[in-house]
Amino acid sequence: MSTIRALMRSPDKPGAGSAPGSASVAILLVAKEAMVAEKLEKKGFAMGVPGMGNMDFCFERRRGSSKSTSARSFRGPMLCPWGYDRGRETGEHCMAAGTTDFDIATLRARRTNKWHKFPDDVLPAWVADMDFGVAPAIAEALARLARSQEYGYAAREGALAAAFTRRMQHRFGWQTDPADAHPIGDLVQASFSSVMAFSEPGDAVLLQLPSYPPFMAAINDTGRRLIANPMRDNGTRWMLDLAAYEAAPDPRTRVLIFCHPQNPTGRAFSRAELEEVAAFAIRHDLTVISDEIHADIVYPGNTHIPLASLSPEIAARTITITSATKSFNIPALRCAVMHFGAAALKARFFERISARLLGSPGVTGVDATIAAWDDGQPWLDEILAQLRANRDWLVQTIGAELPGVTMRSPEATYLAWLDCSALKLPCPTGQFFLDRARVGLNFGETFGPQYANFARLNFATPAPILRDIVGRMAEALAGFRIGQETNASVPNASHASSS
Ligand SMILES: Cc1ncc(COP(=O)(O)O)c(C=O)c1O
Repeated sequence: MSTIRALMRSPDKPGAGSAPGSASVAILLVAKEAMVAEKLEKKGFAMGVPGMGNMDFCFERRRGSSKSTSARSFRGPMLCPWGYDRGRETGEHCMAAGTTDFDIATLRARRTNKWHKFPDDVLPAWVADMDFGVAPAIAEALARLARSQEYGYAAREGALAAAFTRRMQHRFGWQTDPADAHPIGDLVQASFSSVMAFSEPGDAVLLQLPSYPPFMAAINDTGRRLIANPMRDNGTRWMLDLAAYEAAPDPRTRVLIFCHPQNPTGRAFSRAELEEVAAFAIRHDLTVISDEIHADIVYPGNTHIPLASLSPEIAARTITITSATKSFNIPALRCAVMHFGAAALKARFFERISARLLGSPGVTGVDATIAAWDDGQPWLDEILAQLRANRDWLVQTIGAELPGVTMRSPEATYLAWLDCSALKLPCPTGQFFLDRARVGLNFGETFGPQYANFARLNFATPAPILRDIVGRMAEALAGFRIGQETNASVPNASHASSS
């Protein structure tokens, strides 16, 4: 009911502001609610009956809100095989057991930004961390620190750089020298400092849009000029469009910030595409900041190829920035690596930026990252299977149940970039779903001003929660459509109600 009430109140719609409580409006509201319910029931969604829908997940909706306290669950198609359940049933050893089946109360009890940015009645699907736990190897590394109360100044000289080298070799076949790696607190710091080291105020920095928002801040906040290079949706996936830049190059472009795999489009670029990027950077004499933080979350059929691994020429101008924080779910531990593809590049960086100013990661981050990279892969393999199941379910469900929403299946990352432009929503997409579905997505316009009709959905969450997120969105859209249809057939609802 609250969805419909919100629709009726919307200032963007004809008939908005009609006095609630009038007999005509009440009849319309009931009729619309019934139509929404009927349409959703036909599609297999259950509404308003706690415990009668999907029994494995049902919770009180809009908790703490005066608008509604109805409970319901979403019975969309259930495609998730859920590795942890299989493991439990068969008694197989399962690294992810107990770390992937958290319920909402447990997740909300975590003091994380993800679960506390929005009011309690909102289901969050925004910031890029996972509603899961961590690999046993990480839990043990952190427990060891706690047991030994080992919080004195750390003696781990070179340990993180050595683990980085092992990981790159083992996972991506990329040979690196630990001497070229530098530990740092986080990737945002790495991208800001690299922009400052390799360009001057007033210089231009090239960036593909849509873009992870802090990259734009790294350019704008440091007095550089952002040269936007929008990607193109070719009908199946998002493509680079370097030719668009070549048509009007800026002679003061010094740096390319390249996100690979790409957030938010989920592209894992092919070798041919990366070779094009490398040739482009060399041709325009650009330093490349290659953010590869999502490199581990790549789905079958795709491969992550570190940009700097292509050739010594591109390596010599590439700073690869990465960490274990996305794939191993430890972003609060603040630990990352900058890799300079040549000693001269590293020397140039530290001529401009003091290592003392950058600081260094703490022991919890270093030990957890080494544990993740050296011993966490079996856990990550199970997580990847679950993420893939979530992704496939999401692609299918959005295609079937959310007409007007376009999603290109991500080749990498646990992020879905939703194009809602066909819906002609009355407000930005993120706001629409926040207000009317009580789902907290990343607002598209934060990835570039032209993306207000988009939103980013994080699907790294237990299947029941994902089903509820999508169910709420489907319900909000159904209500919106029915509101449009009703308004079309009852041309002046507010006039009718006041007569
Ligand atoms: C592409 C990309 N780079 C960097 C980050 C943030 O990394 P950090 O927390 O190390 O600053 C994120 C977080 O979502 C990201 O998606």
